[in-house]
Amino acid sequence: MLNVAVLISGAGSNLRALLEAAEDPAYPARVIAVGADRDADGLQHATDFGAASFAVPFRAFSSREAWGEELATQLRAWSPDLIVLSGLMRLLPANVVAEFGPNIINTHPAYLPEFPGAHGVRDALAAGASRTGASVIQVDDGVDTGPILAQERVDIEPGDTEGSLHARIKPVERRLLIDVVRRIAAGDLVLT
Ligand code: GAR
Repeated sequence: MLNVAVLISGAGSNLRALLEAAEDPAYPARVIAVGADRDADGLQHATDFGAASFAVPFRAFSSREAWGEELATQLRAWSPDLIVLSGLMRLLPANVVAEFGPNIINTHPAYLPEFPGAHGVRDALAAGASRTGASVIQVDDGVDTGPILAQERVDIEPGDTEGSLHARIKPVERRLLIDVVRRIAAGDLVLT
C-alpha cells in the first residue's frame, strides 16, 4: 500500500477524487495526510474521509525557506511514500524537494510545457489557443518543469471562460492523477 500525503491551497476537488478512488480496497494507495499553506476549505475533505490534516500558513513565516522547514517537519511525521501537490499554489522550497524528491508529483491545468505557472487556464485563453490540456508531472526545482508523467488534450470552445474551461479540465486532471498514483503504487511507474 502506497502512503500518500497531499498538499493543497484551495477547494481540493481533485484531492476529493483521489480520496474517493482510494476508498476502493483494490486501489493500491491511500491518503494518510492532507496539508495546506493556509486554512484551505479543502482540508474538510480529509476530515470527511478520516485522513489527518494540517495547515502550515505561509504568511506565518518570515521566508519561504522557514515555511519549507516547518512543512518538511509536518510531512516527515507521516513518512509518506509519495507527496501529491494538488492545487498547492506555491513553489516548494528547494529543501523540501531535496528531502522528498523524487517522490513528489504535481497536477497542472495545461498541456505542459505550455502555460506553466499559477494561471495555466487563464494564460491559455489569453494566448488564443484552440486547445490546452491537463498534465501530471514530477516536481523539480523549477516552475512546472519536471518530467511529464501523463497528459491529455482538452479543446477550448468558443465562448469559454476561465471557469468553464477549468471545469472541463479538472475531470481530466482527476483521471490522470488517479491513474498515475495507481501506476506508481503498482510499481509500473518508477520515479527516479
Ligand atoms: C487544479 O486545476 C490544479 O491543477 C491547479 O489548481 C486546481 C486545484 O483545484 N493547480 C495549479 O494551477 C498549480 N499551478 P482543486 O483545489 O479544486 O483540486
